[in-house]
Amino acid sequence: MKMNENFFISKAIDPLPYESNWEAPSNIALIKYWGKKNLQIPKNPSLSFTLDKSVTRTSIRFEPSKSGKFNFKFFFNDSLKPDFDDKLHVFFDRIKKYVCWITNYELTIKSINTFPHSSGIASSASAMAALSLAIMDLESYLFNFEKNDFFFTKASFLARIGSGSASRSIKGPVTIWGDNRKISNSSDLYAIEFGKDLNSIFKSYQDIILLVDKESKNVSSTKGHDLMHSNPYAEKRFLQARRNCDSLIPIMKSGDLDAFIKIVELEALSLHAMMMTSNPYYILMKPNTLSIIEKLWDFRKEKNIPACFTMDAGANVHILYPSEYEKQMIPFIDQELSSFCKNKEYIVDQVGAGARKLD
Ligand code: PMV
Repeated sequence: MKMNENFFISKAIDPLPYESNWEAPSNIALIKYWGKKNLQIPKNPSLSFTLDKSVTRTSIRFEPSKSGKFNFKFFFNDSLKPDFDDKLHVFFDRIKKYVCWITNYELTIKSINTFPHSSGIASSASAMAALSLAIMDLESYLFNFEKNDFFFTKASFLARIGSGSASRSIKGPVTIWGDNRKISNSSDLYAIEFGKDLNSIFKSYQDIILLVDKESKNVSSTKGHDLMHSNPYAEKRFLQARRNCDSLIPIMKSGDLDAFIKIVELEALSLHAMMMTSNPYYILMKPNTLSIIEKLWDFRKEKNIPACFTMDAGANVHILYPSEYEKQMIPFIDQELSSFCKNKEYIVDQVGAGARKLD
């Protein structure tokens, strides 16, 4: 069933102490979300691989508030991190309408990431997903309901309000966020699983993340989305993304890898084309990003291995391929591509099953 906003508004209830621990993965979009309206309502549907090893682990201790006011403390890697407070305040202000019981609490939030900071892996996606799941955990305890479809759908709904792509970090191995006419239960408000028809080849896909640049980006994603409002190519881009999504859905079922590669690489380059045609224009790719792409294309042609690349909003390159090619791919990446990475660093990840509750 497709749910509207009112389904997600909870009642107020007396507070009880509670602790919850969740692990949520990052994700890499194959169809890119770039451009939005209102509170992370996407201009086009997006589709992503959920990652496996690149995760955020978050624990929240909920205490009934002594002052009667909502408050929180945020620790990252065991140190108090007030730098994130503004972003978190905005998030809590936005979600209070949907979890109004939370206003009676003081929260101690502790988070760690398994991947390096500023590695270009979307840490806001995994962080907002883990946070939303821990909040939903307490809601399900207070209102006595199971961790059912509603639980995970509302977690995705809340995560979206924190960071759009976070809506896709609840479930796996492939999720879709945004209305799509081919998938009747798809929604702009939350992500859904691709479902049973997913071709088995995509269930063990590998993602090697080449760390070309570990500096923070000089143009944030928030700014990048905003610049789409004045980009002269924006409407055509949203149309292209919708069409690419329509074309990719049957490919995710059939496992046609030649067609998969064409759409995934087109999406990555189209995302970066939007950055270069914004006003002010900017480039997040580095010379080494292009060297990696060229080497990969030569290798693919020479060896006939269906490996392709995608990129996030940054200089790093994700190399995607079916697990059966691991024996050829790892030596190639190690010997030919790692020299384009900062300190030869890369992360070996793969497609994963989604978030989980920790003991
Ligand atoms: O969720 P945001 O606001 O960080 O935007 C993410 C945008 C991309 O990562 C570039 C694309 C995507 O769909 O994940």
